[in-house]
Amino acid sequence: MYELTVRASKKYKITITKGLGLFRARVLPLVKGESVAIVTDDRVNGLYGDILDEFFSDKRVIKIVIKHGENSKNSANYLRIINALAENDFTREDTVLAFGGGVVGDIAGFAASTYMRGITLIAVPTTLLAAVDSSVGGKTAVDLKTGKNLLGTFYQPSAVYINTEFLKTLPAKEIKNGLGEVIKYAFLSDTVKIADLKNVDGDLIYRCLKIKRDIVEKDEKEKGERALLNLGHTFGHAIEKLSGYKLAHGACVAKGLVYSIEISKRLYGLSDKTVSEMYGLLKSAKHDLSCPFSAESLVAQIIADKKRKGERIDFVALKGIGKPEITEIKISDLKKMAVDYESKISAF
Ligand code: NAD
Ligand code: GLY
Repeated sequence: MYELTVRASKKYKITITKGLGLFRARVLPLVKGESVAIVTDDRVNGLYGDILDEFFSDKRVIKIVIKHGENSKNSANYLRIINALAENDFTREDTVLAFGGGVVGDIAGFAASTYMRGITLIAVPTTLLAAVDSSVGGKTAVDLKTGKNLLGTFYQPSAVYINTEFLKTLPAKEIKNGLGEVIKYAFLSDTVKIADLKNVDGDLIYRCLKIKRDIVEKDEKEKGERALLNLGHTFGHAIEKLSGYKLAHGACVAKGLVYSIEISKRLYGLSDKTVSEMYGLLKSAKHDLSCPFSAESLVAQIIADKKRKGERIDFVALKGIGKPEITEIKISDLKKMAVDYESKISAF
């Protein structure tokens, strides 16, 4: 078992364990009040719904099941959750339990943070991506038609419970998506190595979350350093949006990391050894690193992004592995570098 404490606006514990034997004993004490609203998606409910019903039989349970996939992270489903809480007389003394991947975690977190100005939120992530990233740090969100995560809050959970048993039912594609964010950590810090990617276990999750925890504790509301966690996301989010969310978040982060490497090469002249180490990490997880969209269309999408500062943008670049830097770049320069990279790959 691994434990980490996050000391942010709320102090809370992350527990990483395996085997469902002690699930009930560990999670029930985290649930505040008599009533618990379990938010999950249809796939996860199909796999674990019966177990959840049994585990929480001592509580008054309502279950809100959304359809799986990014397109469910919307304001209509958010209101569905809020209305279910209100119609079932949930008070601030009760609990929302997010049981699923990052989509469930983001929308359930947003509902918990806004219902009666905030009720207890427990996160039980069931994807690798949610375990290593989205369940921790308090970013909650839904997407608007105009863009991803445009409506959201910073709201820390009261506890995060990770059980690697749930990861056993994940399709290989979802493990690969999660590894997109794991490789982000491997680029940010040299504590996650290529060999570690072969063994997705509690230790790997712990090491990723330690990196995230340390950053979140210093800058919970992303006034500065937390932006490091957006490495690969400037281009990644643009790819995700242009695909109409058909490409998964983690897969887009992996593609976005390619642009982080290529732009860092042009900004800092990285050594061949460093570049090949970075690509080695991405290739070891067998990510498809091609991008179906032109550099021009990606930059047009980046211009529409909420994180732009006029003609400039804060971009997370890499001076080496474990040496990230937030640098303000003119969008016109970003475009030149992306177009230059595109012209080199199309020359092959
Ligand atoms: P997801 O929630 O859509 O889950 C992926 C798929 O796996 C779904 O089809 C789901 O039904 C299925 N699934 C979940 N658990 C399963 C299990 N144990 N066994 C079998 N199938 C299972 O996607 P995701 O990759 O977990 O999360 C992506 C979302 O997370 C995006 O919306 C992204 O924006 C968000 N995100 C948020 C943060 C944050 O800090 N809040 C960070 C990174 C990503
Ligand atoms: N995944 C980015 C963050 O939590 O800040």
